[in-house]
Amino acid sequence: RMLRCSLGRPLDGGDWFVHHGTDVETRWDADVPHLTPNDRFFVRNHTRPPVVDVHSWRLLVTGDGVLGERTYSLADLQSFTSRTYERALECTGNGRRLFADQQGTHRPGTQWGLGAIGVARWTGVPLSTVLRHAGLRPEAVQVMPVGLDEPYVEDGVDHGRVRRPLPIAKALDDTIIAWAMNDEPLPVDHGFPARLVVPGWVGIASIKWLGELRVTTSVVDSPWNTRWYRMHGEGWAGPDAVLDRMPPKSAIDATGPLEAGRLAVLRGRAWSGDASIRMVEVSTDGGRTWDEAHLTGANEPSCWVGWEHPWTPPAAGEHVLMTRATDSLGRTQPDRAPANDDGYLFSAVVRHPVTVAAPY
Ligand code: MTE
Repeated sequence: RMLRCSLGRPLDGGDWFVHHGTDVETRWDADVPHLTPNDRFFVRNHTRPPVVDVHSWRLLVTGDGVLGERTYSLADLQSFTSRTYERALECTGNGRRLFADQQGTHRPGTQWGLGAIGVARWTGVPLSTVLRHAGLRPEAVQVMPVGLDEPYVEDGVDHGRVRRPLPIAKALDDTIIAWAMNDEPLPVDHGFPARLVVPGWVGIASIKWLGELRVTTSVVDSPWNTRWYRMHGEGWAGPDAVLDRMPPKSAIDATGPLEAGRLAVLRGRAWSGDASIRMVEVSTDGGRTWDEAHLTGANEPSCWVGWEHPWTPPAAGEHVLMTRATDSLGRTQPDRAPANDDGYLFSAVVRHPVTVAAPY
């Protein structure tokens, strides 16, 4: 019998990932546990992972926002009091394919379904600890983390190393320099030996293979906040804005076999950036009526929470299931995601077609 995930892809027993060139996304229909295993976590690399020798690796903290330049080895970072939390990491363009599928507007870029997200248990040192140790000045306004991957070249233009300014408030809040992912050293694809984890923010904020932190008392831009990762373009009604916090989203995991007249339990998950989930609603009739689902498990900000909802399919045939999350900031998934040229932040309610079998 065919099982289907949120995006209508059949479960074929194939691999853990849906491949998009060198980027891969996690398959919803492959029964993703609460913590996404490292070898099933989505990967998004602008260039190629660098090979870093951890013994000679040093993190340089520099710029006029600190009293002096300092370097830290991995052992130095690990000598500070660490912090561990379960947080989601989600690509800004997660769900981009749905702009085409549901709204008829194909957007260029990696054609992610909903699987460019994962939740891991991250361990590292608070960025605030390291900045203060390095002599953070009160006038500092931002930190520019710089990756050690090779410079990103597009159409002959060299944009330099992958980097993106992080405002000082978020840097001092819940951002960590992580060296462990699900209690293992960071895998090469996920930033070995150290990366930022910026909870609830667009994935590009969480710079991998950290080499440098440039702390400054004035605003310095990079193409990753001026050219990309902004909301702009045709149909975008708001101000041209730098992206930071992710919106609420929800999805249905594989539903299992559905049979007319037989009680089934629908299950899925919901998440939001910088917020927890207040409510998940489920529609089993294509959006005409909605019922509140039961939330299961821990409900932490910038992480996903499980939900379940009983459903007895009334009849055999095709049905459209939908889910709608509302977060603790009062944001609710809209019917249509706001249009923007680069296809960022697809936040709309996702249509989930299922086939119900006739009673045996
Ligand atoms: N950091 C560096 N140095 N280089 C990159 O290409 N990709 C960013 C971010 N950090 C990237 C990076 C993007 S767009 C995302 S979505 C996340 O890393 C992906 O993290 P993951 O590959 O560990 O899932």
